[in-house]
Amino acid sequence: MQPVAFAPSILSADFADFASAIRLIEAGQPEWLHIDVMDGHFVPNLTIGPPAVKALKRITDIPLDVHLMISNPEEQLDWYLEAGADLVTVHLEIGGQFDQKVNAHGQSFAIEEVSHPEKISALLSRIRTAGRKAGLSLNPGTPVELALPFLDQCDLVLVMSVHPGFGGQSFIESSLEKLERIASEATATSQNPNLLIEVDGGINTQTAPATVAAGANLLVAGNAIFGNPDPLAALAKLRMAAGV
Ligand code: DX5
Ligand code: ZN
Repeated sequence: MQPVAFAPSILSADFADFASAIRLIEAGQPEWLHIDVMDGHFVPNLTIGPPAVKALKRITDIPLDVHLMISNPEEQLDWYLEAGADLVTVHLEIGGQFDQKVNAHGQSFAIEEVSHPEKISALLSRIRTAGRKAGLSLNPGTPVELALPFLDQCDLVLVMSVHPGFGGQSFIESSLEKLERIASEATATSQNPNLLIEVDGGINTQTAPATVAAGANLLVAGNAIFGNPDPLAALAKLRMAAGV
């Protein structure tokens, strides 16, 4: 089992001054820095691209956890690997039919089957071949069972506990069952006992304990850390709440 780790998400930091936000949070020794890449298509928001990831890599030694909420990672993956991402997460939905326009704020793409598993496998393999950790994420509406066949091909599964696109939303309770399923599958089958199980969205001191109890071992927090006037104290409080 992995110890519980944290990934502050700079989505909730001041976009005009990432350097100060990162310098501040470094004192709390976060295990990862979560970077939300959005393309305005897979999610209804646009954020950070490869030059910004490269610049962030230059100013911090915190490993970069790059969450690709983009429709075409097969075309753009190398940009993020070259920019210095230490962990790259792609979305399972891009292996299925996700082309209906249902990604308004408060919704997100979901799939019922992975019609192109080879597309997902190829992406995970490219990330690992580059010597980085490979992550696979699923949106709230996508059944957790669809991720299970890929567990031995990835280093991390990211359960979205809000509809991706924006920080500061409320935690979706049904995410807990997904975490439990991933955790039990990873350990029971010994497929991947060291799997990182990441949860992203609505994590705060109230919601964190249940996610850890359900098997999460990497907690993303944006608003709960950078939306707080004292991000360092907020990270410490989250660690306490999570029992670490
Ligand atoms: C949402 C992003 C999250 C976001 C979480 O699409 O993937 O990483 O930063 O923000 P909070 O912690 O505010 O819910
Ligand atoms: Zn994220």
